[in-house]
Amino acid sequence: MTVILDGKTLRNKLLDELKVKIDKSNIKPGLSVILVGDDPASKIYVDNKKKTAEKLGIRSEVITYCANVEEGVILDKIQELNKDDTVHAILVQLPLPKHIDKEKIINAISPEKDVDCFTTENYGKLAAGLEPAVYPCTPKGILLLLDEYGIDLDGKHVVVVGRSNLVGKPMSLMALRRNATVTTCHSHTKNLASITKTADVLISAVGEVLIEEDMINENIVVVDVGISRDKNGKIRGDVDFETVCGKTSYISPVPGGVGPMTIASLMLNTYELFEKLLKRSR
Ligand code: GUN
Repeated sequence: MTVILDGKTLRNKLLDELKVKIDKSNIKPGLSVILVGDDPASKIYVDNKKKTAEKLGIRSEVITYCANVEEGVILDKIQELNKDDTVHAILVQLPLPKHIDKEKIINAISPEKDVDCFTTENYGKLAAGLEPAVYPCTPKGILLLLDEYGIDLDGKHVVVVGRSNLVGKPMSLMALRRNATVTTCHSHTKNLASITKTADVLISAVGEVLIEEDMINENIVVVDVGISRDKNGKIRGDVDFETVCGKTSYISPVPGGVGPMTIASLMLNTYELFEKLLKRSR
């Protein structure tokens, strides 16, 4: 029988625990989010982050700029936030408009306040097996979810489909740190099914329907990071859930699997950065 990896329930548990800690603290963690342009999906994500933060007692602000803002304006704002002792975590929502140099913006964030693990310093540490300030939100959320269900990656063949800097690549690195044997597949991979069939754990982060029943063996763990809409506008993942779930030992649904865990990780990361910065200032 397939077990559903229930991200919603775990998110609620983790955030309830976090709220208790924040309630006890006189000083409150602060999260600042920068949103540029009017990408509708980004607006929804950012709104959701702010609402969740506020429920927990995290001081949260969203700084919005129109799509044609000059790069220098954002860089100045980030410098201001870097110096502000009430701000412990900074997030620049991606994607950014094309005229803005994403790397320049991200690397302006102080690595100690880099809640996404996007700066070259933190990302480099992750790749080098050193400790970044915090770990990237989505892969961190996936590992928390797997841990909750006692799914150990040590020695397992983890197949990650997707090599984005946001999910696929850091996921592969983090699975490697858990002593998994990792294969990263992407759009140039030949005969994807021959590889996915050898997976013990399959993590798909592509954003289109890709994983069908005949691409996997029995009893594997499937984690679906994809979000897209079907022809009726309904949210769905990369995995053909109805047919695949009959074969898996564990599977994460969309919605209700990885999505809630990403936001939980963002809140946990904000608190971790807050704790580290407080310790330093003492
Ligand atoms: N855009 C989509 N997902 C994310 C995320 O996790 N962090 C940031 N900064 N932007 C995103």
